[in-house]
Amino acid sequence: MLRLFHFVVAFVAFTGLAAQPALAETPAEILASIHKEAAGTPGFQEFSAERGESFFKTKHGGEWSCASCHTDNPAMPGKHAKTGKVIDPLAPSGNAARFTSPKRVEKWFKRNCNDVLDRACTPQEKGDVLAYLLTVKK
Ligand code: HEC
Repeated sequence: MLRLFHFVVAFVAFTGLAAQPALAETPAEILASIHKEAAGTPGFQEFSAERGESFFKTKHGGEWSCASCHTDNPAMPGKHAKTGKVIDPLAPSGNAARFTSPKRVEKWFKRNCNDVLDRACTPQEKGDVLAYLLTVKK
């Protein structure tokens, strides 16, 4: 019986932990970890919101820019260029949930960069984009 009790306590503690937003991070923390990654790459330059904005609004040889879905004002809701589905604002000023999950950020950078650039974004590009998004006011 005591054993079962321990098991239950451990189980509740474990699931309780898992349900906590303990794994969540702030956009500043996510920026810091991208910075750490980027700083080790050749030709690294300090992140620039200006460079990030132009990267975000430019097509890179394909059909879309980041702004094609996230709009020229990423603090506002976007619209998927293909499906027409509404996309919540990408800038943290318009949507507090953005850039709080490293896993989600990684997943979507990967997919979206591939769609726009036909390759992954470099840590430099990701950092520039996030630096830009953090300056966008509602
Ligand atoms: C074809 C449409 C489309 C394009 C183009 C696009 N995105 Fe997205 N993006 C999405 C969708 C859909 C989601 C996921 C739905 C959501 O999170 O609301 C998303 C989510 C994201 C997220 C997740 C952020 C978070 O914390 O939730 C990031 C980062 C992102 N996009 C960056 C970019 C960047 C950088 C580009 C340009 C290289 C880009 N996107 C281009 C459709 C697009």
